[in-house]
Amino acid sequence: MKSIRWGIIGLGKIAHKFASDLLLIEDCNLIAVGSSDTNRAKKFANKYNVRESFGSYMTFFDNAKVDIVYVASLNPNHMELTIASLNSGIAVLCEKPLALNSIQVNAMISKAKEKKLFLMEALWTRFNPVFEQSLNWINQGFLGKLRYINASFSFYGLDKGDKSRLFDLKKGGGTLLDIGIYPLFLAYKLLGMPNDIKVCGHLTKGGVDEQLAIILDFDNALALLYSSFAHNEDMRATIAGEDGEIYIDSRWHESSNIALVKNKEKESKNFDFIGVGYSYEIIEANNCLREGKLESSKWSHKNTTDLMFLMDAIRKEIGVVYPNE
Ligand SMILES: NC(=O)c1ccc[n+]([C@@H]2O[C@H](COP(=O)([O-])OP(=O)(O)OC[C@H]3O[C@@H](n4cnc5c(N)ncnc54)[C@H](OP(=O)(O)O)[C@@H]3O)[C@@H](O)[C@H]2O)c1
Repeated sequence: MKSIRWGIIGLGKIAHKFASDLLLIEDCNLIAVGSSDTNRAKKFANKYNVRESFGSYMTFFDNAKVDIVYVASLNPNHMELTIASLNSGIAVLCEKPLALNSIQVNAMISKAKEKKLFLMEALWTRFNPVFEQSLNWINQGFLGKLRYINASFSFYGLDKGDKSRLFDLKKGGGTLLDIGIYPLFLAYKLLGMPNDIKVCGHLTKGGVDEQLAIILDFDNALALLYSSFAHNEDMRATIAGEDGEIYIDSRWHESSNIALVKNKEKESKNFDFIGVGYSYEIIEANNCLREGKLESSKWSHKNTTDLMFLMDAIRKEIGVVYPNE
């Protein structure tokens, strides 16, 4: 089997978790990393035994002999770095959200098509075994007609300060793009595009959403979604149909426990995770590259485009506007 050569650029918190998981996957290697800071790149490379480190993105693009790069920089940098990677002939797995808005997402997808290179948004929950299991039960008809989804994502982050990427508009902050994207993904992937969206959001003085409630209205189904940086909570997800329900244990977006309740009987499943769970999106990207695919059928360009369309619409309702929009 062809071994896939990986690179990572943007060496912050998530890049470390991703690198640890990448090392657990067979038939692929992390061979180059790039950062805006030479020392950070060297330290990262030493920690994960990476052959080459580059102290600027430009030197990475010019020299790294990789098949694919994982873009793990802040949201406002996703478009520029992804397009630069594609222009250098390197396929891309880019962190979620793929970009700040639909205009940027469209530019990135157009470039991937033009260069005939693989591009995928790193929406890791999509590939986790628990989500695959929920699809499996739903596709087998165990829930009957889907009527209701309830999912949220919250944590207490008010002590992180205005300069944190979560609260800084210039860094693409706000709950929707950071964590609200997960409940939105769940409802969209299971119910499709809604007919209507109702939104209520509380913004910080800096203009990002710190609490957000969303109702999605579908034909004969409703989704209640929520995200917040203002408190912790139990993050269980409910997927209910006329004939049964699925409950995903907290924290549902990274859970390894899921249950189907039907006819008053409960079937629970527990999955062993490879690493912390980023492994499954890595395996999907590896498979796509080996098969010469330009996009994943599990999380396609259309899926990313739809999700970003919904996020644009929600932000318009609550008045979150990023610089230069
Ligand atoms: N999938 C998940 O579970 C998950 C979890 C957390 C975050 N994320 C996503 O991952 C991305 C990065 O999040 P993170 O938590 O890893 O962020 P982070 O640690 O704060 O920063 C990541 C990197 O962004 C680059 N950067 C560029 N401009 C910067 C600036 N002005 N200030 C600070 N850093 C800057 C730096 O890369 P250099 O090393 O090149 O300088 C930094 O190392 C975001 O898009 C976020 O949505 C995903």
